[in-house]
Amino acid sequence: MTAENASTHAMMVRPGHDAREREQFFLSLRGWINGFAEEVVKPRIRSHARDADIPVDVPAAPGQRFEVRRACETDPAYLLWGSMWASSQKLLWNYVGQSVEAQHEKLRQAFRDRQGRVGSLRLSPEMQLPRYLTAKDVHAMPGGYALDRGDDDLRAGAMYDRGGALFQLQANGGVMNDGRGHTMVAFLQDAFAVTSPRRILDLGCTVGNSTVALAQHFPDAEVHAVDASPAMLRYAHARAEALGVPIHFSQQNAEHTDFEDGSFDLVVSHVMLHETSRQALPRILAECHRLLKPGGVMAHLEVPYRYQDMLIDDVIIRDWQSYHNGEPFWGGCCTADFAGLLTTAGFDDQRIGFQPSTRDPADPNRGRFCSTGEPNFRYWFVAGGRRLD
Ligand SMILES: C[S@@+](CC[C@H](N)C(=O)[O-])C[C@H]1O[C@@H](n2cnc3c(N)ncnc32)[C@H](O)[C@@H]1O
Repeated sequence: MTAENASTHAMMVRPGHDAREREQFFLSLRGWINGFAEEVVKPRIRSHARDADIPVDVPAAPGQRFEVRRACETDPAYLLWGSMWASSQKLLWNYVGQSVEAQHEKLRQAFRDRQGRVGSLRLSPEMQLPRYLTAKDVHAMPGGYALDRGDDDLRAGAMYDRGGALFQLQANGGVMNDGRGHTMVAFLQDAFAVTSPRRILDLGCTVGNSTVALAQHFPDAEVHAVDASPAMLRYAHARAEALGVPIHFSQQNAEHTDFEDGSFDLVVSHVMLHETSRQALPRILAECHRLLKPGGVMAHLEVPYRYQDMLIDDVIIRDWQSYHNGEPFWGGCCTADFAGLLTTAGFDDQRIGFQPSTRDPADPNRGRFCSTGEPNFRYWFVAGGRRLD
């Protein structure tokens, strides 16, 4: 499938013939690395675990991954697999970056022309991005979320939108990359019977892939979305305007926003928490509690890896992201005690588990929220709770 087989929108960069060929090469290469090459590495990982008396047929204790990883870091097969993964990631950004650079002026003009037609954008140039977003280039994207050359720069957003869909191997709602938002809607219905929230906040919205899906599902709601990254938000605003979906974007730190106490019925995030830090996570949950009305629902969708339920070879493969793809809190999030964290933040009626991914919430075949999942992107991990008082 090519990127343009799925529905798209006016802000998406259009690859020319050669760029399209390069994207197809990336998809084939990454498919091969995630398939064949991964299966070559896994027996090596199990062998290192056995050498350290760590179980390979049942889940190991999450902390045992550190010892196995240390052994892997001198294993040629693991190093080769890892360097292929890292190189393919560089190729992805290089390929997408060329298309974005060639079309940036056109995108910038579209951003200027479309501003504020149905939604709004509020940037805060004085805001400092949290260190966990600037210390590394998350996803190894050059410049990361902090990339902003000023003067209505949209590069970070344009690269993330096209690169993110390819990064997910187009299995998260194709070019729209909105499967997480639709999956969140399914979770909210399955787990909390949410029907008609009046005010919704999406934290860490990036370019609004999931926010737009939420807003389309709840067309009567007033939808707000925050992110720390200005170039993501400019693009997110232009993208939502191009799709005709009213969303109010603002540049804010999810740890402490400027919204009033009790001003939302629903506060959500999609794959944001694993890109924060151990210190930030409880602060964000406390902020969600402050922002919700009594009876309001908070839900966070995350990568589908709970290390305590996974075999060690899978854990080591997934945990590579913590060390080599600019995601240092990935492992911390995959082992976090969400039940304890939600309780400390004051949330009752907790629903913590897995939601089968779906692009279309009307799909009669979609699955239901469940307590166990699989470590792949056919499921997403979700942690939700209700503010009762
Ligand atoms: C992987 S992206 C989220 C993707 C998006 N929610 C979606 O589903 O398409 C993580 C985003 O969280 C944002 N982020 C992380 N920590 C944040 C914080 N403390 N405040 C605001 N945004 C934050 C980053 O800037 C980044 O855009």
